[in-house]
Amino acid sequence: MVLRQVCKWFEILAVFAVVVFVVMLFANSPTAPTPVPAAAVAAAGGIDGGDLFGARCAGCHGGDGSGGIGPRLAGRMVERFPDPAAQITTVTEGRRGMPAFGGRLSAEEIAAIVEYTRTILGT
Ligand code: HEC
Repeated sequence: MVLRQVCKWFEILAVFAVVVFVVMLFANSPTAPTPVPAAAVAAAGGIDGGDLFGARCAGCHGGDGSGGIGPRLAGRMVERFPDPAAQITTVTEGRRGMPAFGGRLSAEEIAAIVEYTRTILGT
C-alpha cells in the first residue's frame, strides 16, 4: 500500500520533470535575428548580408552572433571597430583562428556582412 503510494508520487514527479524539461527547451531557444529589410538588400545590389552571415560566419560565431568557436560579435562591433574599415580588414585578411575571406567573398559581400553585424546584430 505504502509502496504503491510512493510509486504514484514518483510518477507525478517524473511527469513534472518532463514538463519542466520541455518548457526549458523552448524557453532557451535563441530568437532568430531580424532579416535584412528588402530595401537594404536591393540597395546592396541584391546581396543579403544576413543570409551570407548565416552561411559563412554563423558556424563559428553563432546564428545570432552570440559566439561559439569565434567570439561574440552581436552588440559589440561598433564599439570594437569604431571605423568599419578596420572590421572589413579583419574579415578580409583574417586573424589567428579567424579565416581570411578575401579570396572567398567579394568586397561587396564582405561589406554587406559587416554592415549586418554592425546594425541588425548590433542591437
Ligand atoms: C572557422 C571559424 C570562423 C569563421 C567561419 C568565421 N570566424 Fe570570425 N573569428 C573566428 C575566431 C576564432 C576569431 C578570433 C580571432 C582572434 O582571436 O584573433 C574571429 C574573430 C572575428 C572578428 C573580430 C572580433 C573581435 O572582437 O576582434 C570579426 C569581426 C569576425 N570574426 C567576423 C567574422 C565574419 C563576418 C565571418 C563570416 C564572413 C567570420 N568571422 C567567420 C572564427 C571564425
